[in-house]
Amino acid sequence: MCGIIAYTGPRQALNLLVDGLHRLEYRGYDSAGIAVQSPKGQLHVEKQVGRVTELARKLPAKVPGTCGIAHTRWATHGGVTTENCHPHLDALERIAVVHNGIIENMGPLKARLVAEGVRFRSETDTEVIVHLIAHFYDGMGALGDSVSPDAAGDPVVALRSALARLRGTWGLAVIFADHPGVVFAARNGSPLVVGLGEGETFLASDPHALTPHTRRVVFLHDGELARIDTSGVQTYRLDGASKSHTVDTLEQEWGDSSLGEFPHYMLKEIHEQPEALRQCLSGRLVVEEGTARLGGLDLGPRELVRLPHVTLLGCGTAFHACLVGAGAIEQLARIPARAEIASEHRLRNPVIDPEALFFAVSQSGETADTLGAVKEVQVKGGQVMGVVNVVGSSIARACGRGVYIHSGPEMAVASTKAFSNMVTALLLFALQLGRTRALSPLQGRELAVALQDAPSLLRAYLAQPGPIEDAVRAVIGAKMVLFLGRGASAAVAAEGALKLMEVAYIPCVAYPSGEMKHGPIALLEPGSPVVVIAPDDGLKDKTLSNLQECRARGARIILIYTEGDHEAAALADVAIAVPRSHPLLSPLVTVLPLQLLAYRAGLALGRDIDRPRNLAKSVTVE
Ligand code: F6R
Repeated sequence: MCGIIAYTGPRQALNLLVDGLHRLEYRGYDSAGIAVQSPKGQLHVEKQVGRVTELARKLPAKVPGTCGIAHTRWATHGGVTTENCHPHLDALERIAVVHNGIIENMGPLKARLVAEGVRFRSETDTEVIVHLIAHFYDGMGALGDSVSPDAAGDPVVALRSALARLRGTWGLAVIFADHPGVVFAARNGSPLVVGLGEGETFLASDPHALTPHTRRVVFLHDGELARIDTSGVQTYRLDGASKSHTVDTLEQEWGDSSLGEFPHYMLKEIHEQPEALRQCLSGRLVVEEGTARLGGLDLGPRELVRLPHVTLLGCGTAFHACLVGAGAIEQLARIPARAEIASEHRLRNPVIDPEALFFAVSQSGETADTLGAVKEVQVKGGQVMGVVNVVGSSIARACGRGVYIHSGPEMAVASTKAFSNMVTALLLFALQLGRTRALSPLQGRELAVALQDAPSLLRAYLAQPGPIEDAVRAVIGAKMVLFLGRGASAAVAAEGALKLMEVAYIPCVAYPSGEMKHGPIALLEPGSPVVVIAPDDGLKDKTLSNLQECRARGARIILIYTEGDHEAAALADVAIAVPRSHPLLSPLVTVLPLQLLAYRAGLALGRDIDRPRNLAKSVTVE
């Protein structure tokens, strides 16, 4: 989703900003733009629909200036047009703004500005912000309400006055032509991080964009403003009082984010899963005691044993991992556990039991709906912990405690290795919780050993992935693909359908296999592809009965089954074997062929694999 990068320092800003935009590309976007303060006291702005490389191609060879802001846009208000690209300028072109987030009261604010004579050049909500800042910067009268009299000519006061009138979410970077070398920033619900260099300072919406330059960072908090210059950052509260801030150090070993020998990040990340899984397990299994220790939770057995129930919150792929995790917690700990879509949970005024435990599961740690759910649980006195990949992300910091899943950088928009590590982290928790209850040392040890061996199972499958191309041929021309599974495999079915939809743009429907006959069976006609996930986990026979029901209607069956299960394989048109695993671990192996199917189908259809249309890596709007 939208990305921000800004720079002030002794170096020429242009190339640094373009490099920064490239590092934000993986988040998904549809257009990009840049504004540089020229030494002559003007703002040089360039915008382009499409990729950052297209913007770079369009830029003049030199745009002199050592301070600037840049943006990748993912359209919310207004179409994908050059006019709607950020940065947006005020009428006199002295102030430039880039913005992540959504202004909810854009309508009434715009109406008042228009009534004052302001002419808008775009359809965006962001343009309201820049005109509002200009309004106060010029010391103009109240917009129908009281105004700080001292705003004229003072960027911080003008910014504060404007922000006080906005409703919604923002991560903002602002430059003024008459304040050379200074970038102003503000955050409310959309992340911003300041990077402190030697005599130069950066601002970004994503720490990843800062790591080539510095690891010393200041995370801005909601409701904060910042003034950034070559000597560092000064932070303020919205009421104008200056605030202290802490300097954090970004992790050294975040991992390799280059493509290496792979043609796409998605394929690279699929193949990284065995190693990512090893990282997630590292130091967390206590095999001899048949348990796990998740230090970041800081929950001892006496606290764990009192938990009445667990709720797992997430969106998209993270939600699918929550479904698997909830099942495992119930199985092993015998307490109620449920998964819920974060955007639903946060807005339905949920009943929160303060004794219970909530998990917010997120790769990016920035998903607005999941962050909103965290806040709602906290407002109601609940205890919520993060299961997060990106260290220091908003969700990780809002939760304070939790489990890092240690997937390393996930650059492809379609999530793969984060799914397997979320599932693994939740299995570790289920094991730890289970051992405070009925789970015996022997049962615990059996699962701990299975988890320890899981990376090699994944490696074995990826070395011999089976007839994926046959499956691709069965789905690429299809009107619709039905995915079926039971128990944890129902969650894997949902994940496989999501992957194929987002990467190949093929309509997919996922159902728990028992539900199939209650509706989706009506979709089946001769040749309809049905992907059935039926590992040998105790539920298989019932799933195979549903498979038969599909076959009876002429469906083409793509079966994911446990190797050696010849009886099951004989029922399929395309049978893809995965290694035998502990039943609770089956999602870790059954998801692999589905990820490969989505990748190969997307490739066959000429899709933009790593950046599927309309999608974003980090969904920072609600
Ligand atoms: C699917 C996908 C999305 C994300 C969802 C949540 O491949 O990537 O469905 O899973 O947007 O994102 P995080 O995990 O960052 O909260």
